[in-house]
Amino acid sequence: MEAIVRKMEIKDLDDVVLIEEISFPTPWSKSAFEKELKKNLLAKYLVVTLEEKVVAFGGMWLIVDEAHVTNIAVHPDYRGKQLGKLLVEGMIKEAHSIGMLRMTLEVRRSNIVAQNLYKALGFLFCGVRPGYYQDNGEDAIIMWRDIE
Ligand SMILES: CC(C)(COP(=O)(O)OP(=O)(O)OC[C@H]1O[C@@H](n2cnc3c(N)ncnc32)[C@H](O)[C@@H]1OP(=O)(O)O)[C@@H](O)C(=O)NCCC(=O)NCCS
Repeated sequence: MEAIVRKMEIKDLDDVVLIEEISFPTPWSKSAFEKELKKNLLAKYLVVTLEEKVVAFGGMWLIVDEAHVTNIAVHPDYRGKQLGKLLVEGMIKEAHSIGMLRMTLEVRRSNIVAQNLYKALGFLFCGVRPGYYQDNGEDAIIMWRDIE
């Protein structure tokens, strides 16, 4: 099965919200994603599909020359199959194509799987936001990567 990375569309949102709800303790609503796609000119969202089924998605806000990642998730049934890597590589490529020079994100201190993914793709630790996550007060690790 060939995995395809493409821009997120409104028709993808039911699948996206399902993945979001399974993946995060304080998930974004469908209307939040709708607003991002329709109104936020700084937002870029991508999905990964397998035979047209949406299995992963990621988003970023383009602020001057920096891409700030908003969310990244792979459906649990499809994790560990290199789709997260494919998605983030696609986001880096997209950010590069529109002139971004750096990409940054926050990740929970306990989320070692995601940290490993980002490290494997060249992101470096560059700081901590103490107590950043409101649901449990967990620290956020800030990671950065230059985009050549
Ligand atoms: C984090 C997440 C996106 C990773 O996606 P994935 O498709 O499972 O990851 P991949 O198969 O592409 O793996 C890429 C790298 O991540 C790391 N990784 C993946 N699964 C791992 C595991 N179970 N344990 C440790 N590291 C792991 C490895 O470094 C791996 O590279 P390798 O296979 O060359 O060793 C996915 O687990 C997810 O959606 N988690 C829930 C939501 C989330 O935490 N999002 C990130 C918020 S910052």
